[in-house]
Amino acid sequence: MSADNTENKKPWSGRFLRPTDAAVEAFTSSITFDSRLYPYDIAGSIAHCRTLAKAGVITDVEAGALIEGLKKVCADIESNHMAFEDRLEDIHMHIEDRLFMHVGDLAKKLHTGRSRNDQVAVDVRLYLKEETTGIISGLARLREALVDLAERKIDTVMPGYTHLQRAQPILFSHHIMAYYEMFTRDCARFSDALSRMDVMPLGSAALAGTTYPIDRHYTAGLLGFSQISENSIDAVSDRDFMMETMSAAGICMIHLSRFSEELVLWSSSEFSFISLDDAFCTGSSIMPQKKNPDIPELVRGKTGRVIGDLTALFMLMKSLPLAYNRDMQEDKPLVFDSMDTLFACIDIYSRLVPNIRVNNKTTKLAAQSGYLNATDLADWLATAGMPFRQAHECAGRAVAYAIKQNKELHELSLDELRAFSPLIKDDIFDALSLDTVISRRRSYGGTARQNVIAAISRAKEALEAVNGSEICKEKTGE
Ligand code: ARG
Repeated sequence: MSADNTENKKPWSGRFLRPTDAAVEAFTSSITFDSRLYPYDIAGSIAHCRTLAKAGVITDVEAGALIEGLKKVCADIESNHMAFEDRLEDIHMHIEDRLFMHVGDLAKKLHTGRSRNDQVAVDVRLYLKEETTGIISGLARLREALVDLAERKIDTVMPGYTHLQRAQPILFSHHIMAYYEMFTRDCARFSDALSRMDVMPLGSAALAGTTYPIDRHYTAGLLGFSQISENSIDAVSDRDFMMETMSAAGICMIHLSRFSEELVLWSSSEFSFISLDDAFCTGSSIMPQKKNPDIPELVRGKTGRVIGDLTALFMLMKSLPLAYNRDMQEDKPLVFDSMDTLFACIDIYSRLVPNIRVNNKTTKLAAQSGYLNATDLADWLATAGMPFRQAHECAGRAVAYAIKQNKELHELSLDELRAFSPLIKDDIFDALSLDTVISRRRSYGGTARQNVIAAISRAKEALEAVNGSEICKEKTGE
């Protein structure tokens, strides 16, 4: 026997003379993807029962029975005892239908003063608050892994690039800490989005609010929201909290994809700067010698998906008249895919980063060839009194000469160098040495070792504060 409360009737059947066509049921159903909202839907319904009881709309005994019933529905879903059917359209109607099986006609009181419009709005906010919190924690783990790598590899020197051409020598750690900064800003973007999605929409009902004397602040408190929505129309129509979070996800994926591209390049035979642990690579089914950087490649590829999700959501919301429109049901596969993909990428990178092996010798060799100290020759001349533009020209001529001689600048003799400017003295060789070139870049935020060490220690302090914060405590269940 069916568990449904109205002999297969729709909640809206009063106005309809004919049953819904099966093809329409299949087409309009969202249960295949919105079933994962069940914990939030049940939490929202429990809070709604308490709110109705507090307002005297239902009795405390009724509220108690409904809540017990809702908990049973939750157990049914978690033990796979509840079938999902297109007939019941979405997770909200499935839960109400199942509630009827547990509490009978009383279930028909649950939807008093509520609409699926404010119900789905509260569900997705609860879902996204939790997801965003998880992403912030995941990013904290990734940032920790990056700082740890930077600290371990503080002695590794490599070429820094512009236009993918060798530019100036840098510390490998300085390069890695650049990503730390990006992921720190990503965290800030997610925290900021979190503060704006922390708004409770229940009580907005279909669009205009409800006639029942409910205490919306009370509902918000029960569900852990810090604010309630100001405008019932906005509350059921707005998905900007979703667009904002998915934009942050897109930006974060772009950071991950830039890192991915570098890992792919650096692990190629052409660069040979790093090798990735076997456990984090895969092979080829035909070429026995291959060890491929599939994780970075997939992260790079998934970036397009996450940005595609965001673009699709933008297109979905563009020009939608107020208030709720069924188009908005399509937001869920997008937000789920975006958050799932981002989380998976952050998680796999927090595991991969500790397994990056750096080939110090190759990176140092690369930093020593290609005239990466040419700026330092120009700077030396400028410090000796030559205007910088002239010094640049002079160093450029020295480079052209050295290329012809098949030597690096620091391999030229003092006489050869003095041919370009009589100002040059033999302390030029110290100025051109790899150590000096790096250690003299002491401007705040520069690559000098002492700066990078200080940046690492600031990052460690910041991460300690994050780990002690409420967000991370909540996640680890402390
Ligand atoms: N499944 C719907 C969604 O995800 C729930 C809200 C339906 N509201 C309605 N008036 N048909 O948007």
